[in-house]
Formats: sequence, structure tokens, C-alpha cells
Amino acid sequence: MSECSLLVDFNTTSSEKEADNDLFELLQSCPIPKNELLSNLGLFIKRQDLSRILFFHDLYQKIINVPGIIIEFGVRWGQTLALFESFRGIYEPYNYTRKIVGFDTFLGFPSVHEKDGSAEFIKEGAYSVTDNYDEYLENILSYHEKKSPISHMKKYKLIKGDATETFRKYLEEHPETVIALAFFDFDIYEPTKVCLELIRDHLTKGSIVGFDQLNHPDFPGETQAMKEVFGLGRYRLIRSPINPMPSYMVIE
Ligand SMILES: C[S@@+](CC[C@H](N)C(=O)[O-])C[C@H]1O[C@@H](n2cnc3c(N)ncnc32)[C@H](O)[C@@H]1O
Repeated sequence: MSECSLLVDFNTTSSEKEADNDLFELLQSCPIPKNELLSNLGLFIKRQDLSRILFFHDLYQKIINVPGIIIEFGVRWGQTLALFESFRGIYEPYNYTRKIVGFDTFLGFPSVHEKDGSAEFIKEGAYSVTDNYDEYLENILSYHEKKSPISHMKKYKLIKGDATETFRKYLEEHPETVIALAFFDFDIYEPTKVCLELIRDHLTKGSIVGFDQLNHPDFPGETQAMKEVFGLGRYRLIRSPINPMPSYMVIE
């Protein structure tokens, strides 16, 4: 198994894996013609993946009246960024100030901290992607931009590199930044802590800070970073009723 597919099914039983393989084969042998295939991808979306899409849809709706950009910290294959572009096209197609910004090394974890524990996947390079994947993703995000109004203004940005450095630089270059939604999916302690500290002065009432791995025993670093920066008691943490992992807090 390649390094970049290592983590996908770490809590999947062997019979579920078999069923997933069957679905994948059905996708590969799909008889739907090319001009109809993209409109029928729902055939292959698993319930668990659909619930994640719905979670992000719920989050997006909560920030429509909040000014500011959307950031995903930890992009990997970039599906969430593409979804955010579509939600923007649906709900606020003329809001050209709603930039969508993603930070990732595109090389996996640059390092891990002792606070990240010792689960199998906690190691340098975990969650890497394929070579030049950021260029491929750029093309996908560009497609979604073109399909919505005001497409001549680029409203997304992929920032490659260690976010402990690149996010600081981004904020220096963009002192106007207000953050409506920040979603943390680095999974590990150090970049989560550094970026949580950096976002604080850019949040406003109603901003949402979301997390993918809070309370997850295999990824203890994310919760510790959150506790150290915001404290667990200061804001109400809200979990998704439809997906066991993600949660968020609304800044009030
Ligand atoms: C779990 S994956 C993100 C998954 C993605 N959000 C999704 O929903 O599919 C974690 C990502 O965080 C990135 N990452 C971890 N530490 C980082 C750092 N210091 N700087 C930039 N990216 C980092 C990894 O490269 C990896 O792609």
C-alpha cells in the first residue's frame, strides 16, 4: 500500500474493505457515457463520505452572514476546498471577498511532536500526496471557479509549504484578513497550535473554528493544541450530529 493511501481505511473492517473494493470496481467498469458520468457521481458516494460533505455544507451556511475568508488547514487531496467553492457559487455567487485558502505541505506531516502520541500514522511524511498534486488540484479549483459568476477574479489560493511559516507570511502580506471559517485538519500538534494562535486576532463574532480530530485518541496533538490556545471551557464545542469526527466552535 502506498504511503498516501495508508490512512484511508484505518478503522474499516475487512468486510467493509471488500465492499469498498467492489464499489471501486463498479466505478472502474461504469458503463455511463462520459458526458453523463460527472453528473452521476452520487452513485459512488458512500454514506460516511456524504455525511462529511453535508457537515461542511452545514458549516458554510453558518458563516454566510459573517465577513471574511475561509481557510482549510490541511488540504490533502483538496475535496473540501472544491466543496467550499461550490457552496460559494450556490449561496453567495457575488461575494468576491469570500476567498478560499488552503495550506498544506503536499508532502505530508513535515515532523511530529511528542504530544502527537505514537499511533501507527504519526510519522513524518504521513498523509503525503502524489508528486505535483498541488498543480492538479489547482486545475480542479480553477474549473469550479470558472463555473461561477465573477470568474475573472481568482478567489481561491493554495499555499504550499509548512504552514507554521507560510501562514504567518500570508497574514503579513494580507493584513486585511478577517477569518469567517477556519477548519483545522492538520491532525498534529505543532502546526495546529501555531496557526490557532495566529488566527485569534483575525476572528470576529460569528466566526467558526472547526476541527477534524478533537477527542481522537490516535491524534492527541490536535486537542492539546486547542486546549492550550483557546481552552476547552471558553467556547461551546459543537459536534456534528451526522458524523462522529468533526466539531466546531462559534466565536461569541
Ligand atoms: C488529514 S490530512 C487533511 C485531509 C483533508 N482536510 C481532507 O478532508 O481530506 C492532513 C494534512 O495536513 C498536512 N499538514 C500537516 N502538517 C502540516 C504543516 N505543518 N504544514 C502544512 N501542512 C501540514 C498534511 O500534509 C496533510 O495533507
